Amino acid sequence: MAVILTIAQQKGGAGKTTLAAHLGVAFAQTRRVALLDIDPQKSLARWFALREQLPAAKGLARLGFSDVSGWRLGAELDRLGRDFDMILIDSAPQLTTDSRTAMRAADLVLVPIQPSPPDFWAAEGTLRLAAEERRPAYLMFNRAASASRLRQGMAAEIAERGLSLLEAALGNRAGFANAFARGLGIDEAAPRSRAGAELAALAAEIETHLP
Ligand SMILES: Nc1ncnc2c1ncn2[C@@H]1O[C@H](COP(=O)(O)OP(=O)(O)OP(=O)(O)O)[C@@H](O)[C@H]1O
Ligand SMILES: [Mg+2]
Repeated sequence: MAVILTIAQQKGGAGKTTLAAHLGVAFAQTRRVALLDIDPQKSLARWFALREQLPAAKGLARLGFSDVSGWRLGAELDRLGRDFDMILIDSAPQLTTDSRTAMRAADLVLVPIQPSPPDFWAAEGTLRLAAEERRPAYLMFNRAASASRLRQGMAAEIAERGLSLLEAALGNRAGFANAFARGLGIDEAAPRSRAGAELAALAAEIETHLP
């Protein structure tokens, strides 16, 4: 059975889809990875379609992809689980039956937030859902300044509340958006950039928490 990593956060624009694309490409270096887009906006599906137009000669990471959702989601998870080592689920910013199914299936839930109180508050519903389903959830800072007081304060509050925060964070870097716009992961577009180094550190830390 595949390891399932669900990326969830009810706040729109937190970076769920960006993370799914870049992490998918990163993990595909060592595993058979499938991306599963359950967000009706289908941004990850658009990214994957762009990628499929690229010349094969570019040596892109091989990824499975599905955007099956709704009543067929459970069966699709079973199917992908047989054919792949890892499933990365990009959820919608709403709490839906699908997001609960994706949460229930997860071995690890990744919850991106900008290091600011409104983003943290918006994550509470997602964290509650993960707790109800008894799934391990990790907050991570996205679009974060490296050493801001706000970030330190947020990290302290997260710890006080007994929640888990990944040490690795992503800065606000155009490289992530630029690579995404071309259908690429940062590992393919600019692996030696700061963004590339941050993503590699994030993937490595997530790896330590996988079963
Ligand atoms: N670390 C980052 N650096 C720069 N831009 C980023 C970063 N993370 C996300 N973005 C940008 O922020 C915007 C929102 O990101 P994204 O679409 O991944 O969020 P989302 O959580 O999937 O949103 P939604 O809830 O609408 O699905 C995008 O334009 C994306 O390029
Ligand atoms: Mg999205």
